[in-house]
Parts: sequence; C-alpha cells; structure tokens
Amino acid sequence: MTKVLVATDKPFASIAVKGIRKVVEEAGFELILLEGYTSQDDFAKAIADTDAVIVRSDKTDKFIIEAGKNLKIIVRAGAGFDNIDLPAATAKGVCVMNTPGQNSNAVAELALGMMVCHARNFFNGKSGSELQDKKIGIHAYGAVGKNVARIAKGFGMEVYAFDPFVKKEDIEKDGVKCLGSVDELYRTCSYVSLHIPSNSQTKLSINYKLLSSMPACAVLVNTARAEVINETDLLKIFGDRKDFVYLSDVEPTNKAEFEANFKGRFFFTPKKMGAQTEEANVNAGIAAATQIVNFLKYGDRSFQLNK
Ligand code: 3PG
Repeated sequence: MTKVLVATDKPFASIAVKGIRKVVEEAGFELILLEGYTSQDDFAKAIADTDAVIVRSDKTDKFIIEAGKNLKIIVRAGAGFDNIDLPAATAKGVCVMNTPGQNSNAVAELALGMMVCHARNFFNGKSGSELQDKKIGIHAYGAVGKNVARIAKGFGMEVYAFDPFVKKEDIEKDGVKCLGSVDELYRTCSYVSLHIPSNSQTKLSINYKLLSSMPACAVLVNTARAEVINETDLLKIFGDRKDFVYLSDVEPTNKAEFEANFKGRFFFTPKKMGAQTEEANVNAGIAAATQIVNFLKYGDRSFQLNK
C-alpha cells in the first residue's frame, strides 16, 4: 500500500492530523505519523519505506532523502524550504513542493502581536506607545508581507514595502507605498518586518548599514529566518543605539549576549511559533496531503520547487 509519512518535530494540531488522515485514507493510502522525534536516525528509519512525506521545518537533507528508498515526493507544509536539500532530491528524482500562503495569516498575526506586546511594555503597568501613525516597512511582499500590510493598516500604520520581485502596481493596489530600494525602506520606517526567504543571496544580508539607517525608536521584527540577520552587526547596533529593539520568532545564536546586556529591548519566542495555529496547521497540512494525492494519482506537479 502507498505510504504517506508525516514527520513533524513540532507536531500539527490534532484537528489538522485528522484532516490529513482523511485526505490520505480516502485516497486509499496509509498514513504514518512521526511526531516530536528526537533524532535524524528515527526520521531516516520512518522514511525508509514510504512513498511520500510531509514535513514542516524538519531537516530533510541528503541523508534523509537517500534513506527514503521508495520516496517520490516531499511536501513542505509551509512556505520556506531552506530545510530541504533540493539538489539531493532532484538527483534522486524526488519531487519537492511547498504550500505557499497556507500559514501566512498566522505568521502575520504573530508579527503584529509581538509589536503590540512590545509597544505596551508587555503589559507591565507602565505607559507604552501605539502603533497608529507609525511607519512600517515590509521587507518582501509575498503572502506573509501582504497579510502584515492588511493588519498594519487596520492599526492605522503608514505601510511601505520593498520587493524587487513584485510589481509596483500590485503593491500599490493594496494601499501600500512601494519604495525603490531596500536602503530607502530601512531609512524611512521605524518598524521593519522581515519576510525574505533564507538563501545564498539573503543570508547575513540584514547588516549594520541597513540597521543603523533606521529612524529613532527602531524596531526590527523577524518572523522569517535567523540566518538572514548578521548577528554581529545587530549586536553592534544594540551597543551603539539604546533605542533599537529586536522582536523575533527565531532565537538568535547569541541569545545569551542579548540577555546579559540588553534586557527589555528584545523578545524571542522559545520555538518558531509563527505558523503554530490550528487554522494554519489545518490549511497547510491538508494542502500538503492533497498535493501528495494529486501528484501520486494524477501526476499533478503544481507547486513543485525543483523543476
Ligand atoms: C514557513 O516557512 O512556512 C514558516 O516558517 C513556518 O514554519 P513551521 O511550519 O516550521 O512552523
């Protein structure tokens, strides 16, 4: 029987697993669950005789892909696919897909949620500040960036965006001001929300030059990836500027240094939480299961990443 593995170090909500199971079993396939596993060896064992796998941020490298002797398809239930070794999958003839947009509202709500909590001093009784009339720069206007814009407008923020891959008119039709360069975005906006993927072009790209140009009371919000930040530069800015704040859904490597020296000027979730809602789990999980069924039954390659 065709086997579909769900390998999630950070498990989906049970309602999402139910939905995935329904899609997989109605197609006549078998569902295998590997949740909260603790070693790559366990992942390798579980994938050994499966035809398809659904992952989240789970490290799906050459070792794992090669362990999947019958593997035909990997679907990343989510947007970013920096956890998957695409060349290794391509070399083995394995199709890799993601499920763009399915968890984007959840991530956007977390970005704004962290901003509100920080602006109100995490509700500690002291006077805080408001988001209304503040300028927010959205760095990359994909599905998450678009949702951040929509919610930020609800707060009455002035919304700006920069994305070299999205047409100006597509940004401006959302009532968002499109800026011509990344430098302009950072020097214009006191809040910057990051939505770039992690790849060879973007790694370490958020550097001293960009961060030091931000206006007074700068807040950098990262619900993207830790790797895009040049942490040495970020720590230097923290030393130079007492008004600089970093809110992140991914813990930095130098967390201890932030904790020791910069109390009250940062917030880090203990685990990546942006997409961790029942709704996002249901949307991304069921989309992933449906894409697997459509691929295995009908050869549908929509959302394939390794063409
Ligand atoms: C994504 O790229 O879709 C988000 O970062 C969510 O990742 P997660 O599924 O591991 O929470």
